[in-house]
Amino acid sequence: MTTDIKLTIRGGIDKNGLPDKITEINIIPGDIVGIVGPTGSGKSTLIDDIEQLAQGDTPTERIVLINDEKPDINLRVDPRQKLIAQLSQNMHFLADMTVREFLAMHARSRGKGPELVEKVIELANSLTGEPIYEDEHLTVLSGGQSRSLMTADIAVISDSPIVLIDEIENAGIKKQDALRLLTGEGKIVVVVTHDPVLALMASRRIVMKNGGMCDIIYTSEAEKDICNKVIEVDDWFMSLRETIRQGNSVEEVA
Ligand SMILES: Nc1ncnc2c1ncn2[C@@H]1O[C@H](COP(=O)(O)OP(=O)(O)OP(=O)(O)O)[C@@H](O)[C@H]1O
Ligand SMILES: [Mg+2]
Repeated sequence: MTTDIKLTIRGGIDKNGLPDKITEINIIPGDIVGIVGPTGSGKSTLIDDIEQLAQGDTPTERIVLINDEKPDINLRVDPRQKLIAQLSQNMHFLADMTVREFLAMHARSRGKGPELVEKVIELANSLTGEPIYEDEHLTVLSGGQSRSLMTADIAVISDSPIVLIDEIENAGIKKQDALRLLTGEGKIVVVVTHDPVLALMASRRIVMKNGGMCDIIYTSEAEKDICNKVIEVDDWFMSLRETIRQGNSVEEVA
């Protein structure tokens, strides 16, 4: 599948039926777009509109276009052509199979070879502190391990050029590495987040209010400088957390 793709979101209406102030957003590969706003402001709903490739047929009446056109229905149903991969707020594996079986099955369904299985596990393990083993069952993976595995799976096996992420921050994974991995593969990433690192890694962020897209903030150079400082603080915080998790004293790290 080509990564030469453009995602367009055309405004619809907010909870009161008033038009979205932002009437159109265009996103291209390698771009990270954030979605921010208070609880209940419609962040997940906007993600759902994109996931469903809404055509004015959802409560928000938004329209999502791919390369300026209404997407072909096959893009939604054929797993080999699936346009969109989603990391959702709550991730549960329904099937009880081993990590290797799951990845091999996924690779096969996408017409790819089993040699990718090891690559996915290796990448996933670079994102999580607790290593994943290929003979482990999916159902015993922790939240952080599941997110890491799905992120690596999307980067390596899925051809989906669009990745939607609804709140990755509390998942216990190296979130900025995860985001960089996905955009580095030339994907479009749309991420709901209030984490300063993730929000500032995005080139712009959509501000939601009362169900509507009410503003877009472009990340300024000054904000990017702040982002780099936040990353340092965040790395330090993560190392403290890891030290405490290991049962050691933080005196050596601080
Ligand atoms: N434009 C809209 N028109 C009608 N209903 C909407 C619209 N946007 C959101 N809603 C409704 O508002 C409710 C809250 O929206 P949503 O779950 O998307 O909020 P959220 O910002 O993701 O909140 P949280 O931060 O708690 O996850 C949902 O029931 C959703 O269906
Ligand atoms: Mg939500």
